[in-house]
Amino acid sequence: MGGLAVIRQRTAAAGLGVALALSIWTMRAHAQTAPGQPIYKDKCSRCHGANGEGDTAPQLVPFKWTYEKTLDRVRHPECEMPAFTESELSDDDVAQIVTYLKTLKK
Ligand code: HEC
Repeated sequence: MGGLAVIRQRTAAAGLGVALALSIWTMRAHAQTAPGQPIYKDKCSRCHGANGEGDTAPQLVPFKWTYEKTLDRVRHPECEMPAFTESELSDDDVAQIVTYLKTLKK
């Protein structure tokens, strides 16, 4: 009977290990989602595509713009793109979007 108890204990320990590994993996996966993603989705994706692949607006991926150039473009667009004011989209939000877009591949 003692043998069975040991097997039960081992099984429980293995289960715990898997659960732990899974939760660490989930946390990592979350950390990899750039904070700029929801901002991009909300403010830019309807024209530039869900993943920057382009739609009614030009493709943005691979993203080669600097933060300064992007900020300038967002505040003072050249054509049909709407201007975003500081209250709609902060400088920091733009920085987050730039960081996010740079993580995307074509
Ligand atoms: C209403 C549609 C629309 C939205 C929303 C929009 N854009 Fe644009 N965007 C455009 C259009 C159209 C162009 C091309 C004309 C131009 O350069 O202004 C453009 C051009 C750009 C360019 C220059 C691309 C190039 O290769 O010339 C950048 C960078 C850019 N947008 C970034 C953004 C970011 C960042 C956001 C979100 C904060 C955003 N856009 C939201 C329509 C939009």
